[in-house]
Amino acid sequence: MNQPDARRRLLGPADVSLEPVGAQEHDRVVDPQDTLEDEVYGASLRPRSFDEYVGQERLVENLRIAIDAAKRRGEPLEHVLFYGPPGLGKTTLAGLIARELGANFRPTSGPTLEKPKDLVGILTSLDVGDVFFVDEIHRLSHVVEEFLYPAMEDFQIDFVVDHGAYAKTLKLPLRRFTLVGATTRAGMITAPLRERFGIVHHLDYYAPAELERIVRHSASVLEVPIDGVAAATIASRSRGTPRVANRLLRRVRDFAQVRGDGRITPAIADEALRREGVDELGLDRLDRAFLRTIVEQYRGGPAGIAAIAATLTEDAETLEDVVEPFLLKEGFVTRTASGRRATALAYSHLGVAGGAPAQERLL
Ligand SMILES: Nc1ncnc2c1ncn2[C@@H]1O[C@H](COP(=O)(O)OP(=O)(O)OP(=O)(O)O)[C@@H](O)[C@H]1O
Ligand SMILES: [Mg+2]
Repeated sequence: MNQPDARRRLLGPADVSLEPVGAQEHDRVVDPQDTLEDEVYGASLRPRSFDEYVGQERLVENLRIAIDAAKRRGEPLEHVLFYGPPGLGKTTLAGLIARELGANFRPTSGPTLEKPKDLVGILTSLDVGDVFFVDEIHRLSHVVEEFLYPAMEDFQIDFVVDHGAYAKTLKLPLRRFTLVGATTRAGMITAPLRERFGIVHHLDYYAPAELERIVRHSASVLEVPIDGVAAATIASRSRGTPRVANRLLRRVRDFAQVRGDGRITPAIADEALRREGVDELGLDRLDRAFLRTIVEQYRGGPAGIAAIAATLTEDAETLEDVVEPFLLKEGFVTRTASGRRATALAYSHLGVAGGAPAQERLL
């Protein structure tokens, strides 16, 4: 059986399937991960100041205090680590920190820093107070990470020259910079690296009202008229993620321009989202397939992530990073030592009889 067929079978008749499922395979409209389209639009929709940054109030407040204090002392800000699911605003915050500090923003990412020399090149070019942003910091190679320790702690890099008995360590001083790291996987950051961050913040999913504000603001930037109820509809289906909210808004806008008069009404929003396979709770085909796999193939679980990934012919890491966190948060699945379990909510959302697995009812 080929892949789209398998997917279709898994999805079953309860799915809102208006186009072939296969076409959507790697183009999920609710995928919180970055796409080129997001990059292009992201630039115009991204908040330009802390005042424009919606939500995460406590975090923003704490950051502002730290930045203010550092400025008063005339010192660089301590190193900052952000962690949390994709698309919640980590990169945006890093940029805002640089802006607020009046410093240069030097972005890079873990996988692109392959060798120590890649890192040394950047570090030696940094000015006092510059913000050096390392996205996906959990993907730094071991050697590069070791180079980063003295750079972060003592603002110097240690070079070993010559070999054997003649080997000596040269210390190269750096200007005091601020490292801002971001990761979707806090658990994969080594303890020595984590300890070198003075400020560590977790980003949480956004509330519907916050996403509604983001949708309205983005609509005004994109100059599309939007109805209040329609903004709320888009917000409530954005799985707590600003990037998804902005993407759904663009899909709905396209639909409004082609099928309507350009205005986003509740009916237009609803129809456009239904066509994208996004249901009223923000779950898309892959989410439902994930739940259906546990419910139907594993009788509600427990099922290991590798087994679910194999059934869905998806990458286990992708499922763990971008599919599962939201399903966990919304209570569709639970994670146990022996694997993932579907909850009663998952059964009722899929319209599958049987309710919660026996064990859950006993609890
Ligand atoms: N608090 C916010 N207020 C308004 N818009 C936001 C906010 N946070 C994020 N956005 C919007 O969401 C988009 C994605 O944010 P960002 O790129 O900062 O996410 P991220 O956490 O870095 O994601 P990733 O983990 O994939 O790198 C931004 O382009 C911006 O338009
Ligand atoms: Mg980012």
